[in-house]
Amino acid sequence: MDISCTVQEVMLLERIGETADRLGVSCFVIGGFVRDKILGRATKDADIVCTGDGIELAKAVAETFPHKPHVNFFKNFGTAQFKLNGFDIEFVGARKESYSPESRKPDVLPGTLEEDQLRRDFTINALAITLNKENFGKLVDPFNGMDDLQYGIIRTPLDPDITFSDDPLRMMRAIRFASQLGFTIVPETFEAITRNCARLKIISQERTTDELNKIMACPKPSVGLELLFKSGLLKEFFPQMTDLAGVDILDGQGHKDNFYHTLKVIDNTAERSENLWLRWAALMHDIGKPATKRYENGHGWTFHGHEVVGEKMTPRIFKQLKLPQNEHMKYVAKLVSLHLRPISLTKEDITDSAMRRLLFDAGDDLEDLMILCESDITSKNRLKVKRYLENFEMVKLRLREVEEKDNIRNWQPPISGDEIMKLFNLTPSREVGVLKTTIREAILDGQIANTYDAAMELLIEKAQTLNLHPVSPSGLKNTD
Ligand code: CTP
Repeated sequence: MDISCTVQEVMLLERIGETADRLGVSCFVIGGFVRDKILGRATKDADIVCTGDGIELAKAVAETFPHKPHVNFFKNFGTAQFKLNGFDIEFVGARKESYSPESRKPDVLPGTLEEDQLRRDFTINALAITLNKENFGKLVDPFNGMDDLQYGIIRTPLDPDITFSDDPLRMMRAIRFASQLGFTIVPETFEAITRNCARLKIISQERTTDELNKIMACPKPSVGLELLFKSGLLKEFFPQMTDLAGVDILDGQGHKDNFYHTLKVIDNTAERSENLWLRWAALMHDIGKPATKRYENGHGWTFHGHEVVGEKMTPRIFKQLKLPQNEHMKYVAKLVSLHLRPISLTKEDITDSAMRRLLFDAGDDLEDLMILCESDITSKNRLKVKRYLENFEMVKLRLREVEEKDNIRNWQPPISGDEIMKLFNLTPSREVGVLKTTIREAILDGQIANTYDAAMELLIEKAQTLNLHPVSPSGLKNTD
């Protein structure tokens, strides 16, 4: 088999083959490594299968290196692994498996190479290359995986109902590979996914979400997302997203299908940015629409407040999908809540104060917000799209001008909450919040200058209306 391996890879594979010869076992590199090498994709790991004890082979291979890498092994599964310069090598004895219907934990029995290949997920992942000296480099391809690689086809080596029932995560993998490689899932295999999608529930959410994120990272995520939708898998773990689908018509008035609109927004975002979380913001931007949908006589369909509902839904959905509950989630929620703001600034008589507010609210995420908003323009009318994009360029220009003048991004009001508390001898309380907000709002609205003295003057004035007085005149200057 002629595939382009580096010299180091060839030497490593030869070394594994020679060790297998010494132990008297047959040995092959199999699965993703072979697939990706044939496709000319990058590889970061290699799976080795042998007709014998995989752990013993792994330990014997590791022994041949001067620094004797540490071998991790799992006796119950008969698997072993070690790393060489960041490259992961996994070993397993060829096996046939039978799965219990209630879990993914297989009963492992020793088997032949072909039995092992037969129980793998797809023909393109079942290709093996011999490593023993006698036949080094010989392709073993009992299920025409090579043809499927060439024609771009995803199919299971076994009856797909059995393959998917053995391990339902493979349904997500089929769609992920279709999306990553631009391959087609054969109808028989796709129909089996639609039949078995309810089995996904025995898979941990972390694994399902991992596959979903791999789809989101593709150049055109809509390919995989649409397949997830059509197969019924998406509804199994993310019903809020499938709720976006469909069009209601009343008095002859419809609205756009928010599911397909969302897919387009994700693709548009993916064309402009690699940032996974910005793509998530695109996925979530209209998630609040089903809950806010109303039909108003004379107006047609409205989705008032969907950005607020969407912002609130974000932490719950992240929890449900076992996505991180950290700054990524906050970033997505923030972009969802702000996604209508830039479009509202495209009208002519917009004040500097509205611009300042957006600069303040978006802070460092302003550029990402603008990418999301541009991606949100999915009209089929080219002239409309052109006009909207030109309007956004104007908004960007004005935002830049206001920012240069007022320096509002990442700005902190000149008097902090701590200073207010010291000045009026207050503990954290509603009054402190009122005073802080008064200063911030007055500066953002342009009512007072963005300076310490102007803020202090307003603070004292406002405090008097709350019957608060500075504890000592020396407290008037921040000496911290
Ligand atoms: N495999 C399988 N069923 C699974 C997962 C893996 O049959 N649910 C088999 C396939 O032969 C696969 C190999 O194990 O090629 C290695 O799996 P893994 O490293 O998870 O995936 P890769 O195919 O290498 O692809 P990727 O790294 O992109 O996930």
